[in-house]
Amino acid sequence: MLYSRMLQHFLLVLACLLMAASAGNFNQDVACTYGGRRCQILRGGSLLTLSLDQVSGSGFNSKNQYMFGRFDMQMKLVPNNSAGTVTTFYLTSFGPSHNEIDIEFLGNQSGQPYTLHTNIYCQGQGNREQQFKLWFDPTKNFHTYSIVWNPQRIMILVDNSPLRVYENNLAKEIPYPNDQPMSVFASLWDAEDWATQGGRVKTDWTQAPFYASYRNFNTNNACVWSSSTNSSSCNGANSTQQAWQTQGLDANGRKRLKYLQSKSMIYNYCTDSARFPQGFPPECKL
Ligand SMILES: *[C@@H]1O[C@H](CO)[C@@H](O)[C@H](O)[C@H]1NC(C)=O
Ligand SMILES: *[C@@H]1O[C@H](CO)[C@@H](O)[C@H](O)[C@H]1NC(C)=O
Ligand SMILES: *[C@@H]1O[C@H](CO)[C@@H](O)[C@H](O)[C@H]1NC(C)=O
Ligand SMILES: *[C@@H]1O[C@H](CO)[C@@H](O)[C@H](O)[C@H]1NC(C)=O
Repeated sequence: MLYSRMLQHFLLVLACLLMAASAGNFNQDVACTYGGRRCQILRGGSLLTLSLDQVSGSGFNSKNQYMFGRFDMQMKLVPNNSAGTVTTFYLTSFGPSHNEIDIEFLGNQSGQPYTLHTNIYCQGQGNREQQFKLWFDPTKNFHTYSIVWNPQRIMILVDNSPLRVYENNLAKEIPYPNDQPMSVFASLWDAEDWATQGGRVKTDWTQAPFYASYRNFNTNNACVWSSSTNSSSCNGANSTQQAWQTQGLDANGRKRLKYLQSKSMIYNYCTDSARFPQGFPPECKL
């Protein structure tokens, strides 16, 4: 009994150590590229804060480019009156026919819920917005937001629960972002003209500067792109075994996805017929 409890304790400690070892270090993994000192890497690289004031927002991006992978970030969003602010974590390539996978948090008045806004761009074409309300207060604690991007599908996860899945389906001629490596970006910026309640609620600059925090950026299951060889090499000991590569949803996952979407989805381009008088995009018919 005692032995098994000790063993349990030991395993727990081991698991924590492994998790700590696998968490990224912002000093190594990213560079502050926007907003100067408003982007700060703290505590030896384990914490990053972004701030926004009336002069500028701030942001950072990964030093590496990636071709597929799972990307996890823990974030704690702007508290209190965050109306007008947008806090982001996304993947993007560059140029007019770029690809992009977006997670954006649209702020709100104190006590009103944030909106989690998602979008997917293929060859420069977006217009694939889905929005969700969260089932927790994202300003009280850190929560884990993940983008899984593999050759088969894109998944957006919140605390490991699937909120959105976008399938690669060549037969149905669905556009899919698999032709360009992408970098990871994150930012905090002002979008008072549209972000909150359709732009009706503006940023309250007397509350500035606004702060959002990031930690535990994890690219352990991502494939780093080399532009000198035009190929990617996957992290991890045996990359062919890594679950993210084919990670789809099992029956439970699909149930959870359906449940979360029915409970939290507040906008879906695939049901917005006014926007698509010529008919919905092909992926909406899956
Ligand atoms: C949020 O507002 C409360 C009450 O208005 C205040 O006490 C608290 O300091 C604010 N928190 C932050 C992080 O600004
Ligand atoms: C803000 O709160 C209002 C009222 O609860 C809600 O309708 C809206 O979707 C929320 N989110 C944003 C980004 O405006
Ligand atoms: C990599 O791809 C780019 C763009 O297609 C091309 O210009 C370059 O020559 C390629 N490099 C190698 C080493 O194949
Ligand atoms: C990696 O895992 C796969 C699938 O289990 C296996 O077939 C392969 O031999 C492994 N490769 C190495 C280098 O261990």
